Amino acid sequence: MKAIRFSPRFAIALIPAVFATTLGASAVAGEYDAIKTAAGAEFFDKECHRCHSVDADRASYGPLLTGVIGRKAGSFEGYPYSEALKSANFTWTAGAIRAWMEDNDGLVPGTKMRHVGVDDATVQDFIVTYLASISE
Ligand code: HEC
Repeated sequence: MKAIRFSPRFAIALIPAVFATTLGASAVAGEYDAIKTAAGAEFFDKECHRCHSVDADRASYGPLLTGVIGRKAGSFEGYPYSEALKSANFTWTAGAIRAWMEDNDGLVPGTKMRHVGVDDATVQDFIVTYLASISE
């Protein structure tokens, strides 16, 4: 049997193939994000929208959530927060939002947001992806 020898020509032929695969993977990742964002928007409508606007022109019972990821907790200008959230000293990250959805009064005792108890990690993931898409 003939040994398979490394051929530089073969390696060169491989480069475009590897490149195409990488591009394909990132296109799929982008597609996954789009699907997660769309699913997150549905879950947000079901679980959060009745109290939270994502439109700066529309007042809502809860604070506006556009731009919430990366924002300091209790800091949206003009919103009447509870003392508890106003004095909570942290910034909203994906992880903090997950913990909040699961057990908001456990994370910030004394908050006036009613307990929503979204404890399904997949649903949390979708809602976080959606909130990230409106936080850019
Ligand atoms: C029954 C109404 C209600 C529902 C439903 C609700 N929220 Fe809230 N949310 C509030 C209120 C009121 C506050 C302000 C809490 C405070 O001041 O203590 C708040 C605060 C927040 C904050 C803090 C924002 C900031 O500026 O610090 C986040 C994040 C948040 N909610 C996310 C969610 C998400 C995500 C959902 C859905 C899974 C949800 N909320 C469902 C009423 C609600």
